[in-house]
Amino acid sequence: ELAYLNGHYLPKNEAQISPMDRGFLFGDGIYEVIPCHNRKPIALQRHIDRLQRNLSAIGIKAGHDDSHWAGIIRTLAQESPTEHCGVYLHISRGTAAKRHHTYSDGLSPTQFAYSFQIPAPPSSANRPSMGLKLKSQEDLRWLHCDVKVTALLGNVLHYQYAVDEGFDEALLYRPSGKITEASASNVFCVKNGVIFTPALDNTLLPGITRGLVIDVLRDHSKITVLEQDLGLQDFLDADEVWLSSSTRELAPVTQIDERVIGNGEIGPMWARVIDLFQRHKYE
Ligand code: PDD
Repeated sequence: ELAYLNGHYLPKNEAQISPMDRGFLFGDGIYEVIPCHNRKPIALQRHIDRLQRNLSAIGIKAGHDDSHWAGIIRTLAQESPTEHCGVYLHISRGTAAKRHHTYSDGLSPTQFAYSFQIPAPPSSANRPSMGLKLKSQEDLRWLHCDVKVTALLGNVLHYQYAVDEGFDEALLYRPSGKITEASASNVFCVKNGVIFTPALDNTLLPGITRGLVIDVLRDHSKITVLEQDLGLQDFLDADEVWLSSSTRELAPVTQIDERVIGNGEIGPMWARVIDLFQRHKYE
């Protein structure tokens, strides 16, 4: 299994970094996950744009242009043992001599990437056998969830709690009642033929899949998609609920807490949208 570390390709199990790396000590870094189908990255430029935005958001000056990152992602997808893979790309602030919260400008950021197998994309012909079950929870994460940072303990604990309770993922809401996202996906709901998703702000990640789904629908269908504030009740009363992420694409949800969504079956809007998405996602 091939990995990339600080300018070199090497077998993943030979990649080593210092325990003084600030990514290890403080979770001081950012990351991306880029889905690749048939060894081709999906929405590569959108992922690189977000990566560059996240680096500046936390003040890491990696000093590389887009083609540097694109080269690593394309190489790992090409060399992947599986046709369908995700490329994980992680940039931490670097290794310092002492553990201290504040950092100086002289650090050299640590760059690490590798690929891992993901399932073939779902389609109306290749349906998941069952919808997912979500456990609603108050969102206890920090207030910069719009930045894709490697400090994921909040997400980890929310996801683990959902799974320990017998569910597949979390559905998070702020104390205001506003639904944000799941612990590793964005969320959509459908009511009376209209598709809704939480509006972007600092409490959720601007998911690439979320953005692609919205753009494909606006460019290639007459279906209405609205980005607005939504509450748990909107999701419980919806006809359909979906998760979106680079590794899941669009995954249907058929239960939230003890409540069955719609008639408990994977819905017709999901089948329509997943077909449109598969046709246009490479644009
Ligand atoms: N997770 N929200 C959160 C908190 C996420 O971690 C992710 C992705 C998303 C969806 O974003 P995108 O469509 O760009 O993948 C939303 C990745 C896959 C992960 O952490 O593995």
